[in-house]
Amino acid sequence: MTESKVIHTDHSSNEVRRILSAYAERERTHKSKQGNPGRQRLLREQYDTLERILAWRFQHPLSQCKVLDVGCGHGGLLGWFHERGVKPENLYGVDLLPNRIKIARETFPAFTFLEGNAEQLAFPDDSFDLVSVFTVFSSILDVAMAKSVARNIERVLTSRGVVVWFDMRYPNPWNPAIRAMTKSRIRELFPSFELQLESSILLPPIAYRLGRLTDRAYPLLASIPIMRSHYIGLLRPSRESSPG
Ligand SMILES: C[S@@+](CC[C@H](N)C(=O)[O-])C[C@H]1O[C@@H](n2cnc3c(N)ncnc32)[C@H](O)[C@@H]1O
Repeated sequence: MTESKVIHTDHSSNEVRRILSAYAERERTHKSKQGNPGRQRLLREQYDTLERILAWRFQHPLSQCKVLDVGCGHGGLLGWFHERGVKPENLYGVDLLPNRIKIARETFPAFTFLEGNAEQLAFPDDSFDLVSVFTVFSSILDVAMAKSVARNIERVLTSRGVVVWFDMRYPNPWNPAIRAMTKSRIRELFPSFELQLESSILLPPIAYRLGRLTDRAYPLLASIPIMRSHYIGLLRPSRESSPG
């Protein structure tokens, strides 16, 4: 995507309205890929990679961690953290979309879900050990909003905490409502963080078309670096900027 598609507005409420209407349109026209073998395969890769990265790079036991998922959608990622030992009372999600928050609350009644704009996170400073943000910044075209969401994430993160990142590194030519999150854009949003990211998952439009060939073709195609469409990993406050 070119920079000309990036929106600069004075009032984040304009961007909130744009995001709400982009998702309303998407939900009206989107065909579910739930049973698609390529989709299942890429989700498996995403979660297996996340598990490996956390085991390798995050030293704290998940059973003692407090987790916030920003742009949590239907809450599935928090369900995953719960299966890996995070206590229900330590799982929080926030999302702009009321219908997604409603489904999240019905699916995971023991977790806490807030409907609202992540520019105004209603939590004290230094509240969370992990803040996950999965395909959220690619949905925000307004640079001022993206920076203010990033500052809020930084504010609620403990000094030893990490941001858990997953987002697309390539633009989507079929969807002008999203923006590629390249490493340089991630650095602009989180200038005082160290990026520990790797490329992951096969380009979804290809994965979705593999059908019965998925088991054999997916690993082959996904082993080609340029075919991997997303970055996954951790953003860690760099030592110089974190107290102690
Ligand atoms: C592509 S969806 C991803 C949902 C979920 N993280 C996942 O991976 O399935 C992006 C989500 O970010 C939410 N979002 C975008 N901007 C937001 C903001 N400023 N505050 C809160 N949520 C936001 C949208 O409402 C949407 O549910």
